[in-house]
Amino acid sequence: MKPELIPVLDRQTIARLVCDLGAKISEDYRGRPLVLIGVLKGAFIFLSDLVRSLQIPVEIDFIQVASYGSGTASSGEIRLCKPIDVDVRNKDVLLVEDIVDTGLTLQFLLDYLSAMEPASLNVCAMIDKHERRRTGVSVAYAGHRTQEGFLVGYGLDYDQKYRELPEIYHLQF
Ligand code: IMP
Ligand code: MG
Repeated sequence: MKPELIPVLDRQTIARLVCDLGAKISEDYRGRPLVLIGVLKGAFIFLSDLVRSLQIPVEIDFIQVASYGSGTASSGEIRLCKPIDVDVRNKDVLLVEDIVDTGLTLQFLLDYLSAMEPASLNVCAMIDKHERRRTGVSVAYAGHRTQEGFLVGYGLDYDQKYRELPEIYHLQF
């Protein structure tokens, strides 16, 4: 049976949330060299909207990891596929994620980036999902905080599908 798409965040709501995040980040990092690192693939749409809502200059890079496992659960076994190119030493770094679920991917990325000695390291995620959190990672900037559900659209996929949808939906199996 085909899964059902239940609307969670429409275009206007997403635009407002991203605009608010951009304003907050601009205020917090004003006058400091900020590097935004988008986590591929999921964060590509969120990051592209976020940078255009900022009022401060930034450097942009991408990182990609693969998590073994399929379906809607992360296995926790993570491998780096694409490292960063920008030198982040002594710079403020903001890791930009589509969604934080168990937090295992984020923990892996924070460990990897911390070793490069940035001046500071924080996380901005479009969705901060709590139910399955297994680490103590904190998301300093979250567009939307939720308890549960598998979300798709606005870069978020299920089996590489639905990323292109401009709204965010709950995928009901
Ligand atoms: P983690 O469980 O926090 O390690 O989540 C890792 C990755 O799983 C995220 O970056 C997403 O790519 C994916 N993921 C987790 N929850 C969802 C969801 O609700 N929709 C789409 N992808 C998800
Ligand atoms: Mg992701």
